[in-house]
Amino acid sequence: MVIRLAEPADLPAIAAIYDPEVLGSTVTLETVVRSPEEYRAWLRAHPPARHPVFVADVAGQVVGWASLTAFSPRPGYDRCAEVSVYIHAAHRGCGHGRALLQHLVAVAPSCGVLHLLARIEGSAKPSLALHAAAGFERVGTLRRVGEKLGRVVDVVLMERVLDA
Ligand SMILES: CC(C)(COP(=O)(O)OP(=O)(O)OC[C@H]1O[C@@H](n2cnc3c(N)ncnc32)[C@H](O)[C@@H]1OP(=O)(O)O)[C@@H](O)C(=O)NCCC(=O)NCCS
Repeated sequence: MVIRLAEPADLPAIAAIYDPEVLGSTVTLETVVRSPEEYRAWLRAHPPARHPVFVADVAGQVVGWASLTAFSPRPGYDRCAEVSVYIHAAHRGCGHGRALLQHLVAVAPSCGVLHLLARIEGSAKPSLALHAAAGFERVGTLRRVGEKLGRVVDVVLMERVLDA
């Protein structure tokens, strides 16, 4: 498996990983899948030097993706970025999620990011465990903050401070 920057040609594979979670789970509180043009705009909004999107590539097949996304448009928050990690359902449990998240942690300082934030749906045990294993600490819980698929859900905030 190699981790490399995402390219526009990867967007259909990224969508094939992310869209089922948008439509069928609460691990993301997005509810509407992006159009192809919206996916292209999303990638353009992630400049590689600042807020990169990476893919995990196994012999030419994209099996997962991860990104740094601006936490806030207010410049005073520029040191903080939100992490996202998604692995194709058929390729979970093989270490790809850990590798992608560790890669985000490793490259973040070179992107000017020294605070990583994860917002994780409260019952998403694999994600909570993945972030804890990558050194993220639980900050708190936003109780009953989200609602999707007929469920009201908590969201756990986890952070990793890189210059502590
Ligand atoms: C969470 C997710 C990214 C983990 O990726 P993965 O490649 O399956 O995970 P890995 O094989 O790299 O496992 C790394 C660690 O994560 C945790 N983990 C992964 N799957 C787990 C599971 N089913 N149950 C509990 N812990 C799990 C473990 O701590 C594991 O370390 P270990 O193998 O030493 O026990 C993947 O399950 C996924 O894409 N889930 C849906 C999307 C999602 O929830 N994304 C996060 C949004 S905030």
